Amino acid sequence: MQVTRLRRLRQNSDLRDWISQTRLGPKDIVLPYFVLEGKRVKKEIKSMPGVYHLSVDNLLKDIREAKGLRSILLFGIPRTKDETGSQAYRDDGVVQNAIKAIKREFGKLIVITDVCLCGYTTHGHCGIVKDKKIVNDEALNLLAKIAFSHAQAGADFVAPSAMMDGQVKAIREILDENRFSDTGILAYSAKYASSFYGPFREALDSHPQFGDRKSYQMDYRNSGEALREIKQDINEGADIVMVKPALAYLDIIYRAKQKFNVPIAAYNVSGEYSMIKKLAGGDKTKEKELASEVLTSIKRAGADLIISYFGKEVLRWLA
Ligand code: PBG
Repeated sequence: MQVTRLRRLRQNSDLRDWISQTRLGPKDIVLPYFVLEGKRVKKEIKSMPGVYHLSVDNLLKDIREAKGLRSILLFGIPRTKDETGSQAYRDDGVVQNAIKAIKREFGKLIVITDVCLCGYTTHGHCGIVKDKKIVNDEALNLLAKIAFSHAQAGADFVAPSAMMDGQVKAIREILDENRFSDTGILAYSAKYASSFYGPFREALDSHPQFGDRKSYQMDYRNSGEALREIKQDINEGADIVMVKPALAYLDIIYRAKQKFNVPIAAYNVSGEYSMIKKLAGGDKTKEKELASEVLTSIKRAGADLIISYFGKEVLRWLA
């Protein structure tokens, strides 16, 4: 019997590189940042080693160091919270000020902003709470207002992550009515209720104060529903759609890529990041191997953009 020698193409690294089909590039990377008020703040987030809470001055410094960085995703940590997240849409809010400062120095950097309520509300939910229920439509105006304030400050894309039905439409409308038709929407379309968000909620102090997010984020037992969510967001005006988390949802990324002709983003979330950090146990080589494997898999599945806390390191590895 003749042996089929698949190993022939694996003999050395030149051959392996030559026939490789997936390549992670600097343009694929979207780097998340957590910005807070004040000056000279740089505080490591306990649950996410290597990720920091930064005041604007240090945020700018960090971006300066991230050679090859094309795009960032901004999260704000307000000084105070209330029932309706009113700090989220102030002209001089923490995110709005950060956008202005970033755009002043880095005109070409693509600035994406997270649009949600959970980090700004005392109850920690992504919508408005009435009788212990997260009601949908009352949140739409607020989310639109937040998105508009980000656009006015100079954001290139707003990224609604609340999983309220109709949020993309509400945002597209307010932007268009106010001559911000060039501001794009990156929709967190297929966002699952996931335990992999744990470290992030510590970073944002956004744990829901009662209940969970299962009445608005998706059930991980379902996949067809993710395609419906994505389709709906495209119909409402999303320019880019997102699958989140990424690693446990590669099938969703793959199916979305096959089915839709819009760019697909995938969020390699905090728990997926921390998992690698733990496994590598401080060994930088292991960390690089693990992160490269995971991020390349996400790309192989079909993601055009990957939001990753390893972003800065990836840029260094690729340089
Ligand atoms: C919610 C939001 C979440 C993340 C980003 N925006 C999740 C949540 O708390 O439900 C998670 C990101 C991560 O885990 O890295 N607005």
